[in-house]
Amino acid sequence: MLSKKIQDALNEQVKIEAESSQVYLAMASWAEIQPGINNITSFFYRHSDEERMHMLKLIHFINDRGGFAVVPQLPQPPLTFPSITHAFKQLLEHEIFVSESINKLVDIALQEKDYATHNFLQWYVAEQVEEEALARTLNDKLELIGDDRGGLYLFDRDILMVSVEGEAGA
Ligand code: FEO
Repeated sequence: MLSKKIQDALNEQVKIEAESSQVYLAMASWAEIQPGINNITSFFYRHSDEERMHMLKLIHFINDRGGFAVVPQLPQPPLTFPSITHAFKQLLEHEIFVSESINKLVDIALQEKDYATHNFLQWYVAEQVEEEALARTLNDKLELIGDDRGGLYLFDRDILMVSVEGEAGA
């Protein structure tokens, strides 16, 4: 059985994962109307789906442990971006924020001596390491590219090889 404190903290993470999915969905929709970046667009859509999966995993865990997962109300995410580079910068900042939130959750699980939740959260800890690393790599590449349109063409081609959940070791 989950303590009230753990349940509330897990539900807060449900909200953060749902917000992540919304933020990346907005990036995907914006990217879709920019010319010539089809693979970047599909990367954002896949990333949004991935975040929804993170949210669902939490919902099932809360309910399976005798709690009640709350489907949250969400604020509207930013709808447009000054450039692809800005969108990816926001993605990295957002992932860093998510990692901090997961770390706080791990702290609470330890304080509450809830070892089952602590164990469950290890998957998220590992996932965040991968997601932050991927976001950093993509930002580094975009920094190298700068305003070079040929570089952006190659970036869009290469991002096809990138797996959102690290299937390709990304
Ligand atoms: Fe589920 Fe990328 O945080």
